[in-house]
Amino acid sequence: MKISYSLESNSKEGFPLLRRGFEYGWITAAARPSMPSASEVSKAWHNHEPIFLPAILDDTLPLYQSELAQANLFMEQIRQGAELSEVLETEAYDSRLQPAFELSGASFEDNDEQAIEKVIFDCWENDEMVADNLWCKASWLSFDEEDGSLRFRFSFGYEGYEDVAADPVRQGLAAKLTDTIFPESAAVTTHPTLNTILQTMLDCSRVGFMERIVYFNAPNGGAQMHHDVERGHEGVVFAQMNGSTFWLALSKPKLMDEIEAFLARAPSDQWSHLRKLASDRQALSDYLEDRDHEWAEELIDRTPAFFQHLIEGGYAYVLEPGDVLLMPQQSLETCVWHSVICLGDETGEGLSFAIKKL
Ligand SMILES: [Fe+2]
Repeated sequence: MKISYSLESNSKEGFPLLRRGFEYGWITAAARPSMPSASEVSKAWHNHEPIFLPAILDDTLPLYQSELAQANLFMEQIRQGAELSEVLETEAYDSRLQPAFELSGASFEDNDEQAIEKVIFDCWENDEMVADNLWCKASWLSFDEEDGSLRFRFSFGYEGYEDVAADPVRQGLAAKLTDTIFPESAAVTTHPTLNTILQTMLDCSRVGFMERIVYFNAPNGGAQMHHDVERGHEGVVFAQMNGSTFWLALSKPKLMDEIEAFLARAPSDQWSHLRKLASDRQALSDYLEDRDHEWAEELIDRTPAFFQHLIEGGYAYVLEPGDVLLMPQQSLETCVWHSVICLGDETGEGLSFAIKKL
C-alpha cells in the first residue's frame, strides 16, 4: 500500500508544502492508490500501520453539500470573530439543537491561549435532564496570525481531568451534539462500506465514533507530528470532506527507525543532542513523549530533508475530498504519529473521530 510522492525545491505541477511560513518544498503526486481489500486493511491495522481508503466516501458525500456549505459559513463566522455561543443561538442552529440540547453556559477559556470559546450544553430526553456539561470548544490550531486553521472539539466534563472512557453515556451524547452541529458527520458514521471495513478490522458488530473533532485546515496551516492515544479507543478515522491535506503518518517504532536511519547518514557533527538520545532507543522513545521535545521537533517538523526521507520511505499521503485515513492508536509504544499540512488555497473541512468497539 506504499504510495510514492516526490518533494522538489520547485515544481510547476505540484503544490507547495507550507506550514506557518516554513517551506518544505513542492509535492508532486504519484498515481492515486487503489482501495485495499478488507484483509489488507485488517493486516495493516494489526501491524499498526496507517490505512488509506481512497475515495471511499465519494458515493455519499454529494448528499451533504448543503451541510458542508453551512459548516464553512459557520467556520468563517467564528474565524472573523463572532461569538460561538451567539452563532449557536441563531435560528439555524437553535432549531437543530432543540429540544435535546440546551445551551447552559460559555467560557472564553482564559487558561488556554489557543482556545477561542467553549460552549456548554445540558442534554434533555422527555423533560428529564440526562447529562450536563457536554461541550463544543473552538480553538486555533496555532498562535501564528497567518494561520487561519481552527477546530471544534466535542467532549464533556472537566477537560484534561476526565477519564472520558469511564462515562460512555455522556461520551455518546457529546458525539450526538456533533451530529447536531455538523450533520455531515453522518457521511462517516453511517457509511455502509466504511462501517463494514471497521467492524471487520476491529472484530466487532458495531463501531462507536467518539471524542470528535471537526478540523478546518487553512492554507499555511496544519499539525506538527503527534499522536492521539487516549484510553478507551482503538484509533482515529480522519475523513477529508473538502479541501486537501498532505500527511506523513507512521507508527512510533517506524518513526524511531527512520530517525536513526536519517541520523546515521547525516554528518556526524549534526544533531548532536538527538544523536546522543537516539543511541538509547528507550530514551528516545521517552523523550518523544515529553511535552517539550524540541531536539526531535527540529528534525521531524522543521527539516525538509527529513520530510524527503519519510516521503521516500512511503509514509506520505495526500487526502482529497472523500478520502479516509485510519490510524491505529492502541498504545504509546505502537501508535501512529502523524503530521498534517494544508494543500492548495482552500480551507478544507476534515472529520477526526476516535473509534471504539461497541
Ligand atoms: Fe491527530
